[in-house]
Amino acid sequence: MSRIENSDKYYWHRYLDAYLPAFRRLGDVSLVVEFGVLHGDSVAWLAECFPRASVVGVDILPTQPEWPVSPRIVYRQADQGDRRAIGALLDALPGRPDLIVEDGSHAPRHQVNCLVEGFARLRPGGLYVLEDIGTSHPSHPTRAGEPPAPTALHVLLALQHRREAGLGLDDAVARGLAHPDFLSPAEIASLFKSIGQVELFQRTKLPLRCYSCGGNEFDYVGWRCRCGADLLAPADSMSCLIWKMAD
Ligand SMILES: C[S@@+](CC[C@H](N)C(=O)[O-])C[C@H]1O[C@@H](n2cnc3c(N)ncnc32)[C@H](O)[C@@H]1O
Repeated sequence: MSRIENSDKYYWHRYLDAYLPAFRRLGDVSLVVEFGVLHGDSVAWLAECFPRASVVGVDILPTQPEWPVSPRIVYRQADQGDRRAIGALLDALPGRPDLIVEDGSHAPRHQVNCLVEGFARLRPGGLYVLEDIGTSHPSHPTRAGEPPAPTALHVLLALQHRREAGLGLDDAVARGLAHPDFLSPAEIASLFKSIGQVELFQRTKLPLRCYSCGGNEFDYVGWRCRCGADLLAPADSMSCLIWKMAD
């Protein structure tokens, strides 16, 4: 059994349906960064998917004894809330990452920090995966009571629309999407210039097993696990694949 089967990417979110074809499109990959290590299952899987690549696992925790050990895997400690530290960490890498997977705290401000700092350093034609972007959706339970604000999800969908409808990004639109807690107009304009394509994935199947109790006996009419977990919540299991324009 591959270690990815222990990751919620596989059994709950079912992100591999979107990731595996995207990984094939990436071509040669020599450097992969993942924010969020947990038990190390996805870092080990990324090293398997890209056998010639170095993989950098970034977490707020120091290296844990259970994390996979390999000459191709290194760990760095950083807090996604500290935007400067994230930029410095990325600047200290041996090159530009081909792939960045952000699966850390899922806090909407942290998602923005890593997106802005990471996307700027991604190689042309590279892929940035912003996982669990459902936490930036206004109907996500963690945003209840929060005033409406343009998070990374709003900005990415707006940029996708402007690009695909053949509309440019004028200053008024960039200012309308800016927010002091999230992105500035200049950051939005810079993303628009360098984004080639935005693909938003959302799971439209049931999970293989429950994230909460681990079981797979489901109420197929109420779309709940027998333990009560909601299997198809409106803002669950969303991941955004953001391609950088090739040079
Ligand atoms: C969802 S888990 C990662 C799961 C893993 N990628 C996988 O697929 O198996 C989230 C990880 O983010 C880390 N984390 C939480 N807050 C963080 C922060 N502010 N900065 C960096 N990492 C953080 C946690 O320590 C945890 O290991």
